[in-house]
Amino acid sequence: MELHYADAYTMASFLSPLNTRTDGYGGSAEDRLRLPLEVYQRVRAEVGSDFALGCRFLTEECIDGGGSLVDSTGFSRAFAGAGVDFLSLSRGGKFEDAAQPKVGEAAYPYTGPSGYECMPSYYSDARGPFGRNVAPARSIRQILRAQGLETPIVVSGGVHNFEQSESLLASGAADIVGLARQALADPDWFCQGPSRPRRAGQSVPLYELLRGARSAPPRSDLRTLGSGTAR
Ligand SMILES: Cc1cc2nc3c(=O)[nH]c(=O)nc-3n(C[C@H](O)[C@H](O)[C@H](O)COP(=O)(O)O)c2cc1C
Repeated sequence: MELHYADAYTMASFLSPLNTRTDGYGGSAEDRLRLPLEVYQRVRAEVGSDFALGCRFLTEECIDGGGSLVDSTGFSRAFAGAGVDFLSLSRGGKFEDAAQPKVGEAAYPYTGPSGYECMPSYYSDARGPFGRNVAPARSIRQILRAQGLETPIVVSGGVHNFEQSESLLASGAADIVGLARQALADPDWFCQGPSRPRRAGQSVPLYELLRGARSAPPRSDLRTLGSGTAR
């Protein structure tokens, strides 16, 4: 079970330095951690000590005034020290820099620069879309290990093939690799391993194929689909 303390969810707002509440649940890092730790302890009391219970939070908020690696390293220590079984690390995905919604529509948090860092896509900068959460995850893991804390670290964000996954594990960036869109694009990928047979005529994993296809110039005939815009 993973408690969601990341992205645009409520607990991430409590953890953020932008949380200036004065009721004991905001302001200092210790007070910002209070509610997430209370929730963890309450859930732990329900599920017991032999139930795998982790939490997902941000290595960096990627917004002005938002949490940095300094904050998240402190949160990692606190969660690991409290007995959280795994730390699942995300990055960005905030409301604060979301695109202005159309009249009558709600803001969607994954539409601004921090949203890009959460779900990096095929349109990227020079750094590219892959593994943008790796460096902060590696840093947190190294600091925890240096302090004798062995809590497994899950890294996610733009992990897209077995070679990359294996190298993340082998080089000590993380203990577990999380993937979303790779799994959506090719649900059998996990079962078949790096030597899996390619689909007929396919020379690269499906997800890379999709990314490649979608990085082609936009087709004018795909601009509008129904009432929305093709993306
Ligand atoms: C359709 C979709 C739904 C998602 N839902 C969640 C969610 O419920 N909880 C969560 O922590 N992350 C969610 N994410 C973010 C992913 O966990 C992940 O951080 C992000 O997609 C980057 O990883 P990827 O490059 O492997 O897709 C979602 C992503 C996608 C594409």
